[in-house]
Amino acid sequence: MRTAVCPGSFDPITLGHLDIIERASHLFDKVIVLVSFNSSKSKAVFTVNERMEMIQKVVPHLSNVVVDCYSGLLADYLKMTGACAIVKGLRAVSDFEYEFQMALANKKLFNGAETVFLTTRGENMYLSSSLVKEIASFGGDISDFVSDEVHDFIYERLTKKSLE
Ligand code: PNS
Repeated sequence: MRTAVCPGSFDPITLGHLDIIERASHLFDKVIVLVSFNSSKSKAVFTVNERMEMIQKVVPHLSNVVVDCYSGLLADYLKMTGACAIVKGLRAVSDFEYEFQMALANKKLFNGAETVFLTTRGENMYLSSSLVKEIASFGGDISDFVSDEVHDFIYERLTKKSLE
């Protein structure tokens, strides 16, 4: 059984993330969407549990996808679970240098960690969790960027937060 891990902050999950997860689910027997920690990012807006719940709400149509979280190194998670690949989406050339560095570091830490890059769909090239947070915090329309199942939760949280 070939298992892949789709890691990310998912703060919150966007339609761009979901597209990569869906495509990975067609390529692998099992996909673990892993809420992980990016030490270079400032504090997340959503808790780990909220992020996991949001992911669970948008993947029920994908029977081979499960959701998990891990606070350690991604390479160790792969070792622990026997997953054979890390799947990441590449939006633009600007993503590449950072992603390439992480792929090399993960491979160095654990030789079994292969990174598979999927190119994003054209319509998601500009999309990011930060953009969703920015737009929603000003009361803008995020319905083209996040799934209906999580839209209200994200929108209410972010617009309320901006009023605090
Ligand atoms: O969605 P993001 O923030 O771009 O995802 C980055 C993430 C969380 C996948 C990356 O920071 C990560 O793998 N964190 C886990 C800790 C780790 O293994 N760091 C070293 C990577 S070489």
